[in-house]
Amino acid sequence: MLLPVSHRVNERGHLEIGGCDLIELARRHGTPLYVYDEATVRSRCQEFMAAMGKRGEVLYSAKAFASPGFLRIVASEGLGLEVVSAGELHIALRAGYPTARIYFLGNNKSEEDVAAAFAAGATLVLDGFHDFELLRRVVPAGHRQRCLLRVSPGVDAQTHAFIATGQLDSKFGFSIESGAARAAVEEALAQDSIHLEGLHSHIGSQIFDLRGHVQALEIMLDLLAQLRAEQGYEPHKLGAGGGLGIAYTDADDPPTPSQFVGTLLAALERGAALRSLRQPALVVEPGRAIAGPAGVALYTVGSIKDIPGVRRYVAVDGGMGDNIRPKLYGARYQPLLAGDPEGSPTETVTIAGKYCESTDILVSDAQLPEVREGDILAMPAVGAYCLSLASQYNGLPRPAVVMVADGRDRLIRRRETYDDLLAAEIL
Ligand SMILES: Cc1ncc(COP(=O)(O)O)c(C=O)c1O
Repeated sequence: MLLPVSHRVNERGHLEIGGCDLIELARRHGTPLYVYDEATVRSRCQEFMAAMGKRGEVLYSAKAFASPGFLRIVASEGLGLEVVSAGELHIALRAGYPTARIYFLGNNKSEEDVAAAFAAGATLVLDGFHDFELLRRVVPAGHRQRCLLRVSPGVDAQTHAFIATGQLDSKFGFSIESGAARAAVEEALAQDSIHLEGLHSHIGSQIFDLRGHVQALEIMLDLLAQLRAEQGYEPHKLGAGGGLGIAYTDADDPPTPSQFVGTLLAALERGAALRSLRQPALVVEPGRAIAGPAGVALYTVGSIKDIPGVRRYVAVDGGMGDNIRPKLYGARYQPLLAGDPEGSPTETVTIAGKYCESTDILVSDAQLPEVREGDILAMPAVGAYCLSLASQYNGLPRPAVVMVADGRDRLIRRRETYDDLLAAEIL
């Protein structure tokens, strides 16, 4: 399913989300506009939480999309939060996110990052030996910082072969192969300022085949068995990261959140029993799988350029500034017309953005009914890693964001103004 759960086609033949007509939203708020469906955010959160039950924790990965109006909904569903900088933590704090549920990750943390995590009472995920020194500087005598320790299990999820190589060649975490992971656990257990709650790993993103996650978990359990034998250490928590993929086009068929969590829990139970380990609580941190399917971008069609026998360019009023994924990862999308979502495709067009880059193409070869200037184009599955990677390139202010539910739309981020382009400049 590409569109949010609440979508329907209304009496006027327009696409509606959360009971709001998208043509009407575009008219009132202008475009580009990012529309988030509250029902989808909640249902994705609830599915993760229900699958996990009391056997672990679900954190939302703030890097996918972190707007206070969005984070408050995630927090109200009981999820924890994964942040990777003092800046993301600041946003979370301003959103009133319960700090005991926040985990602070990141390679190359600064002293400011560690101090912010400590002051907030968040859990810190140690990523390198440098973090030990920072904690010594930051944590006052007699206090302890709750920590996990990130290990790189060496599973390359992107190869589809899940080859256990490359442990040494990652900027993240302590490698198992080099012995760094075991040395880091030893150091963490010895350092008074650290309360080591467990280990953590993350193997990649937009993953459909869960065998990579299971393999990483097996590798982590082997490490746990070794740590128990050598250091008598058995962690309470085991982090398996995020990475569950979503559908961007009809060709995509990702596992559901229940399948993701269920597969990991089953592997954990089986693997822990096999090694006679006490089963740690599972921690997962999906970002894309929660925010991605909830967001739909609206653009207005402007100029249309025909190059006979070559291509028809349909230009919209956004592009790589609000969605760099096609340019960055070759990501594919399947747009539709908000005013004619069920219209039969009659033409193949290329959806171009308005940025001064030839590569500013949102969709190559989109199949659409006849497109005219002024039409509203709806782009599904843009809720994650679009606005969080957005820029003001070419002096284009970033879009507004509305949250829709029960026939009402709520502006959660206003459209930037031209003055916002100058907000940090010394004039
Ligand atoms: C450490 C970590 N956790 C969680 C995530 C979230 O991943 P996703 O959005 O694919 O679920 C990422 C993103 O790459 C990550 O680096």
